[in-house]
Amino acid sequence: MSSHGDPIPMTSSACGPLSGVAEVPGDKSISHRSLILGAMAVGETTITGLLEGQDVLDTGKAMQAFGAEVINHGGGSWSVHGVGVGGFAEPDQVIDCGNSGTGVRLIMGAMATSPISVTFTGDASLNGRPMARVTDPLALFGCQAVGRAGGRLPMTLVGAADPVPVRYTVPVPSAQVKSAVLLAGLNAPGETVVIEEEATRDHTERMLAGFGAEISTEVTEEGRVITLKGQPELKPQHIDVPRDPSSAAFPVCAALIVPGSDVLVPNIGLNPTRAGLFTTLREMGADLVYENEREEGGEPVADLRARFSPDLKGIEVPAERAASMIDEYPVLSVVASFASGETHMPGVKELRVKESDRIDAMAVGLRAAGVTVEDGPDWWTVTGLGHGNVPGGVTCASHLDHRIAMSFLVMGMATQKPMSVDDGGPIATSFPIFEALMGGLGADIQRGG
Ligand code: S3P
Repeated sequence: MSSHGDPIPMTSSACGPLSGVAEVPGDKSISHRSLILGAMAVGETTITGLLEGQDVLDTGKAMQAFGAEVINHGGGSWSVHGVGVGGFAEPDQVIDCGNSGTGVRLIMGAMATSPISVTFTGDASLNGRPMARVTDPLALFGCQAVGRAGGRLPMTLVGAADPVPVRYTVPVPSAQVKSAVLLAGLNAPGETVVIEEEATRDHTERMLAGFGAEISTEVTEEGRVITLKGQPELKPQHIDVPRDPSSAAFPVCAALIVPGSDVLVPNIGLNPTRAGLFTTLREMGADLVYENEREEGGEPVADLRARFSPDLKGIEVPAERAASMIDEYPVLSVVASFASGETHMPGVKELRVKESDRIDAMAVGLRAAGVTVEDGPDWWTVTGLGHGNVPGGVTCASHLDHRIAMSFLVMGMATQKPMSVDDGGPIATSFPIFEALMGGLGADIQRGG
């Protein structure tokens, strides 16, 4: 099992206004997919703006173990020499995906229809997460999986030698599951069809089309019906990875709760399957403006300007918006603590099976910091105390979860007493420049408990 080294306690204290420009790193979802699809194309894919977080680096190492050549040219510029659909070699080592559920689930899909055996592992967080949601549909292609009880890693997958195409309705709203099935469908003959009742992030569909696959999406009464024609030759691409809205969430939310702040977060993708947080914040009364709205690479993009918002109101966050902001609920719960009234967040069962049980991790820390939180299996409610009234002054467990660590550190920028996390190390999985970037805006984050 991998681990990320000794814990790194961090403390965040109240600071003066945050100001300046926050250049957040590349999108994590698109970065994983760039490496994986690059490895499945024939020839050289070039990538700029790749997120060089540990999760993505682990996916890059995995692609090398499958026979692709992955080269770091420096400054976020990478190239991948792909082996083609069906061209994966059998790795001679265990594939360690570290902390990354996206990495392991997408790679499982990508290898499931090749006649190779692969053993996957990860850190303590990843080895506790459910994998049957992916291995069940992969079994329909003819791929076998043997893991620990409850379908947990470490786990060995034996890819199908004679894969058959699949028609599969995804039972939980999960872009990882949808993407695993589509990637497996690449090396199956005929048409693979994936149906999702609720729309989840659609980067895999968009990127597969960009790589030359025949893929179409039809919105029907059943939901989104995605049809992929198997065994294409994927053509190498140049990919300029847009910046990650899920990382942008942290400087945006910090600016809203720290008095006097005015922060510009440029070039953020506002794909509707990802932008739910920003809609929600605006409904809460946030001074959050989309500047310079434009289209880049077929995706809506804007510069986000966030200013201190003293009169935030709690709201009901529509359950049907959950998939488009699933990674942003932890930091939303922090903003909700500084709002007046209740923020009710229904339809969020999936938060319980992320890098940590994110409802529980946040609820425990928020309560300790003086905020009232109620929760049930698939909902939670935060009762805000209003600006300036949140006590803080506690150390929270980050549970090997980057977004939990960053959320509590954002909180400490506006609580009466500092907030600490027991381990900020996992932040490096998705946002390795978080401390430096927030410090550059004026935040006071120190290492130490
Ligand atoms: C991701 C999908 C989401 C999200 C994760 C990235 C992806 O997970 O939480 O951070 O890149 O496909 P689920 O598919 O489990 O909802």
